[in-house]
Amino acid sequence: MDLSALRENYTRDGLTRDELAATPFEQFERWFLQAQEAELPEPNAMSLATASKDAAPSLRTVLLKYFDTRGFVFFTNYESNKAKEIAENPQVALMFFWLGLERQVIVKGTAEKVSHAESLKYFMSRPHGSQLGAWCSHQSSVISGRKLLEMQLDKMKQKFKQGQVPLPSFWGGFRVVPQQIEFWQGRPNRLHDRFQYSRENETDWSIARLSP
Ligand SMILES: Cc1cc2nc3c(=O)[nH]c(=O)nc-3n(C[C@H](O)[C@H](O)[C@H](O)COP(=O)(O)O)c2cc1C
Repeated sequence: MDLSALRENYTRDGLTRDELAATPFEQFERWFLQAQEAELPEPNAMSLATASKDAAPSLRTVLLKYFDTRGFVFFTNYESNKAKEIAENPQVALMFFWLGLERQVIVKGTAEKVSHAESLKYFMSRPHGSQLGAWCSHQSSVISGRKLLEMQLDKMKQKFKQGQVPLPSFWGGFRVVPQQIEFWQGRPNRLHDRFQYSRENETDWSIARLSP
């Protein structure tokens, strides 16, 4: 199958140095609000790249649950492939692809577990079914079939039929603490606008325009 004639010209918008916020968190918030206003599907879905200690990369989608100046937080199974790779090598990358706005944001940094209290707070806010689901999945392990998952769910429904579903010890959040964040805006003729924020210290960021 030849896809070489498939191409889009990006004409919606531009990005200039003058309009950038002082910090990438403010810039990200601006773009995130615009992605929501544009009603893009799941604007908080992001690709998460990890790498093993041998530098073999892997990639999957996770959902951003919140962010602030400390970083970007997602939740997952602490025994999953991604969590094992983060334990071996905390360097990760995140990517948001907002095609409807012809935008891409790439975050590079390190992932660290959030506190137990933070995981608990988020877990308690999840729907009951998702709480039970967390207990049922040995994420990333090989299973015999779907039946096993359904049996596990029935078991957990029984086990936790009274009171709150507790936070599993193998489940929680990671915070990606950024070192660099790039904002990419598609432009005509492949002359896209790219601005990269690099961390200088706790609070300050330098900004560079990158060639497309
Ligand atoms: C839209 C979407 C959102 C997802 N959100 C999450 C998430 O927030 N946390 C998570 O652990 N997996 C999420 N997944 C599943 C992951 O992509 C992946 O299959 C799973 O985490 C196992 O990854 P691993 O084996 O690399 O650890 C999501 C998948 C999709 C398509």
